Amino acid sequence: MGSSGHSEGGIGSARIKALRAAEAEIFRRARPKSEAAFGKGITGFFGGVPMHWMNDWPTPFPIVVERASGATIRDVDGNRLEDFCLGDTGSMFGHSPPPVARAIKRQAGRGLTYMLPDEDTLVLGKLLSDRFGLPEWQIATTATDANRFALRVARAITNRPKILVFNGCYHGSVDETMVRLVNGRAANRPGLAGEFRDLTENTRIVEFNDVAALAKALAHGDVACVITEPVLTNSCMVMPEQGFHAALRRLTREAGTLLLIDETHTISTGPGGYTKRFGLKPDLFVLGKPVAGGVPASVWGMSADVARRYRAYNRAKEAGYSGMGTTLSANPLQFAAMRATLEDVMTDANYAHMERLAQRLEVGLSAAIRAHALPWHVCRVGARVEFICAKGPLRNGGEAEAAHAPALEAAIHVALVNRGVLIAPFHNMMLVSPATTGRQVDRLVRAFGEVAGRLAA
Ligand SMILES: Cc1ncc(COP(=O)(O)O)c(C=O)c1O
Repeated sequence: MGSSGHSEGGIGSARIKALRAAEAEIFRRARPKSEAAFGKGITGFFGGVPMHWMNDWPTPFPIVVERASGATIRDVDGNRLEDFCLGDTGSMFGHSPPPVARAIKRQAGRGLTYMLPDEDTLVLGKLLSDRFGLPEWQIATTATDANRFALRVARAITNRPKILVFNGCYHGSVDETMVRLVNGRAANRPGLAGEFRDLTENTRIVEFNDVAALAKALAHGDVACVITEPVLTNSCMVMPEQGFHAALRRLTREAGTLLLIDETHTISTGPGGYTKRFGLKPDLFVLGKPVAGGVPASVWGMSADVARRYRAYNRAKEAGYSGMGTTLSANPLQFAAMRATLEDVMTDANYAHMERLAQRLEVGLSAAIRAHALPWHVCRVGARVEFICAKGPLRNGGEAEAAHAPALEAAIHVALVNRGVLIAPFHNMMLVSPATTGRQVDRLVRAFGEVAGRLAA
């Protein structure tokens, strides 16, 4: 299949390069206005963009959006894209879900931030505890913040310095999680800007699904908290093996270590996340990104035991700033949008629709991979689907890292955009929202089949 020495995902680099170049030209020709507007970068912004990740899309220049609604984006050149990236999960429930848009409109004239509770708050705490099963909650603005605050509480109440992460994890820009296993040893994740600390001093790291390594790392008795996603979603997707979560819970309890489950991506599983669906019993629970329908907001919840210990800790600690909290956290716009999302968007009916179409997507992509005899596979966690340009299943973050095919993935990404579908830029992730239609899924499957066919020919 490969047409030159080096290959990715079974495809030779010359073929990948040729596809990328041809598709880049098609992309450009369809976007004269965007290209002129973007120029060599938008004036006044460092790197030409308001946030540097916008330069990481594989397209020749970023798509300049005119508007987005439901599961569709329209660019300033009038191109319509079926959106399966959905803001990399921030818009998992579609762009501007109508109940959220109405709630924002209502709140817009009643104050946007005042550092006080309001009438929506009176119902929100109960909505969160009923839905996710943990009794006490706090609201923050990003999943990064929520993780950071929850980890502080874990260290405070256990009086232990360390956390444990799984190789390949991502929990936002939480410094102490930025560790990787390199040749079996912990190291700072490569590429960290301005990081002068040795992050491995207070972070232990083992591979996901490796129960023996986990037991050994926890046996030191110095780990306050294990932080993990229930399924690793931030490299190529890694599913937990049978019994892994049960072992994780048993071992953390035995070691006096807390367990933080970060559901920011796996909330795709169902209205109560992977935790509710599979009966996980975390001590701390974090959810960000889509929890307020796209308005920046996050939540972190505590078990009754953690809340009790945290209260005792606060009573005993010296007076002074906790080092947790940000000024715009827990503002009325978040309350309004989150209430609307929980009550009217994250419903059983919407999740049933998402699951059904995600299954159709999984089946369609798998069939195309088989039809072209490619050594690739498809993974799905509820409404979240990923094709991986390597054989599967992947067992851990190390394997997931090795499965990446950056040049191939980039070429496929641009080719899909040219066929009217947008998937996530950093890995081959596709989300199905309540607004996504069967026609959109079929279009993606067709486009993927065409591109796979060209690569395999
Ligand atoms: C599992 C997980 N947790 C936390 C975050 C951080 O979210 P944010 O960038 O909104 O802080 C991410 C971001 O991708 C994530 O994937």
